[in-house]
Amino acid sequence: MDIKDTHILNQDIIQSAPTTEPARQEFFMDRCHELIEEMIIESGHKPTFHVETFGCQMNAHDSEKLIGILLRIGYEEVATEKEADFIIYNTCTVRENANQKLYGHLGSLKKRKESNKNMLIGICGCMMQQTAVVEYIKSSFGFVDLIFGTYNFYKLAELLFYKLTETDKKTVVEVLDVPETHVENLPEKRKYSFKSGVNIMYGCNNFCTYCIVPYVRGRERSRTPEDILCEVNRLVNEGCVEIMLLGQNVNSYGINFLDESETIKAHPDYDFPDLLSDVAKIEGLKRIRFMTSHPKDLSDKLLDVIAANPKIARHIHLPVQAGSSRILKAMNRRYSKEDYLALVDKIRAKLPDVSLTTDIMVGFPGETEEDIQDTIDVIRYAKYDQAFTFIYSIRSGTPAAKMEQLPSEVVDKNFEKVLEEVRKVSAQSSSRFEGQTKSVLVESVNDHMNGYVTGRMDNNILVHFPGNEEQIGTFVDVKLDEAKGFYYLGHAV
Ligand code: SAH
Ligand code: SF4
Ligand code: F3S
Repeated sequence: MDIKDTHILNQDIIQSAPTTEPARQEFFMDRCHELIEEMIIESGHKPTFHVETFGCQMNAHDSEKLIGILLRIGYEEVATEKEADFIIYNTCTVRENANQKLYGHLGSLKKRKESNKNMLIGICGCMMQQTAVVEYIKSSFGFVDLIFGTYNFYKLAELLFYKLTETDKKTVVEVLDVPETHVENLPEKRKYSFKSGVNIMYGCNNFCTYCIVPYVRGRERSRTPEDILCEVNRLVNEGCVEIMLLGQNVNSYGINFLDESETIKAHPDYDFPDLLSDVAKIEGLKRIRFMTSHPKDLSDKLLDVIAANPKIARHIHLPVQAGSSRILKAMNRRYSKEDYLALVDKIRAKLPDVSLTTDIMVGFPGETEEDIQDTIDVIRYAKYDQAFTFIYSIRSGTPAAKMEQLPSEVVDKNFEKVLEEVRKVSAQSSSRFEGQTKSVLVESVNDHMNGYVTGRMDNNILVHFPGNEEQIGTFVDVKLDEAKGFYYLGHAV
């Protein structure tokens, strides 16, 4: 068969594909599977893949779906990109250094790609939603095979089919500006069998002035309670004991639903606390976490639901970003320092044993020494168990990119100051459980300490204690003997 015939044949196959989802993707998974079987006969080995995730929980969750699709097609997963025939980078672009990291990786792959004709490289995720980045990759790294975005990652099998059967060497690129359709029920391969993330919504409507997420993930869309509860039930039946409900701002769940929903028809006011209490009713599910909570939308109802449900983790990730009301206003966060501190008081009054964690940014345009002092005040007041600190990174297209930027020496100095405070406060705060007995979900055998396992308390803090492999995926009561800053050493009781 010559190349022209193959091309015609492919057109026939593509034309015979179902037009509805997920049937269309099922079809392309089967077609790719046939191609992979042929490849195995030819080469004598199963082709391997590795998905490298650069981003947040959402990205990690998308990667689980990509992995599920590739396993279904017949690829074998390997732990590092060095051993992989097919490498996918699922990118993040929330800060500029993520872009540089990706280009570094791509540069180092050129030689390998030249010497292995079967090797494939795919790039997807948030960074691909930016036209300039896609153009740069096409011109500087023409050897990349597949480029796709956040709205169509579920189409991996279809795009791979185009690539495997194409007759020229061009990069297959498909990036959508807005979501086209939402596809439920695709295969996924979870990293852990006993815990899983579940997306409850996509996108973000908040447009914090520094942030690129609304531009690369689109407007907020909530999944229906039916779809979410069905997924959680399935996961629990498959052995999951912990679920993390995911969204950029879970507290605004329900503003705009993806599909028709009987529940919403009957209860138009259905909100995140309602969802949380419905999820908590699922038998067999032992622990529920959620993130992220935007401080402006955290309701009393949510705190009441948490207080009434022992299954819901006593942990709220409540990104403050900055302490100064002036900077918060410029960031469009829609709360002041006073609002935030009052919220901390309210949370601690309703949930006395709660762990608060946060994200803090240093170096937003116009930030002064005085503003930094406000951030330090908040850190001291909120007594965070953990705080993720970031240096503000300019993202083109965002309103803050047009503001006058601070010199990096000033930012670096302020960052150190904030970091020092965070270290002091979180070491002190997270050690307050010393001597107590807490329920720990065991995650893995400890790589560094022989005979130890590692797990997490409901506030996400790590605990290492003597144990064995059989305990993985189970809850063990552990006496916390010694606080070590970001983790505990303990023993099972
Ligand atoms: N939706 C979440 C945050 C998602 S992004 C929320 O609103 O809290 C995760 C964190 O990255 C943010 O909390 C913020 O601290 C940080 N971040 C976002 N944009 C950034 C930027 N341009 N520069 C530096 N850090 C940024
Ligand atoms: Fe970004 Fe703000 Fe949305 Fe969080 S809430 S994703 S920081 S725009
Ligand atoms: Fe990054 Fe996209 Fe998440 S930009 S933080 S991976 S939503």
